[in-house]
Amino acid sequence: MNPNRTPILAGNWKMYKTAAEAVAVVTELKAEVAGITKAECVICPPFTALPALSAVVAGSNVQLGAQNVHWEKEGAFTGEISVGMLKEFGVRYPVVGHSERRQFFGETDAGVNKRAKAALAAGMRPIVCVGEMLAEREAGKTQDVVRTQVTGSLAGLSKDDMVTTVIAYEPVWAIGTGKTASPEQAQEVHAFIRSLLVSLFDAATAAKVRIQYGGSVKPDNAKLLLSQPDVDGALVGGASLKAKDFAAIVKAAV
Ligand code: PGA
Repeated sequence: MNPNRTPILAGNWKMYKTAAEAVAVVTELKAEVAGITKAECVICPPFTALPALSAVVAGSNVQLGAQNVHWEKEGAFTGEISVGMLKEFGVRYPVVGHSERRQFFGETDAGVNKRAKAALAAGMRPIVCVGEMLAEREAGKTQDVVRTQVTGSLAGLSKDDMVTTVIAYEPVWAIGTGKTASPEQAQEVHAFIRSLLVSLFDAATAAKVRIQYGGSVKPDNAKLLLSQPDVDGALVGGASLKAKDFAAIVKAAV
């Protein structure tokens, strides 16, 4: 972490939890993280939990995210969700381009770019995910893959938009596998992403962008990952489903 960037910890709940279950976890979480001001704490629940959670998080320091957002304001796009639908319930941080969306639902950098731009235009702060597959890492292609994803997903953003956007580096081989990148492996790619931002935008912009690490982040490995200079937070799947575990990860950042 770097004292000039506020760490951001986001829990990606994927297709887990009914609204009632979500309310129970976030009620406990908000008590656990009450008073923490030096890190941002975000929950990205299933869309169906957003109405109930918007009431639960009101006045607390837990913020709401979402797991995707479409680029059109409305229309015939079965299964998609619009910025207005998310804003109605106070969503601030929509995740776009998660590797599961890319792998299983055919999302592309061009589409991710449109989703990110729509979120920004609506005053939200997208969390843009990138990361290589195991075979790509083993073939020495990590930087090529990440460069293509970063360049394509962030194409055409203004410097102001870039500063508002969060990047999540999530090596696909570390997601849900219990196999985390070592702090050194994470730092190496985070530094590479920041160097890309210097060339795509400028040094001042790159220095302000928060880059989260994701992939099997747990209470017992969070501190070491977050101690790396270019790791500015975490995008957490499995360990964010339990209030105490996610709170421990948030606390590891302060
Ligand atoms: P994980 O998921 O923490 O369960 O590995 C991370 C993610 O997919 O964002």
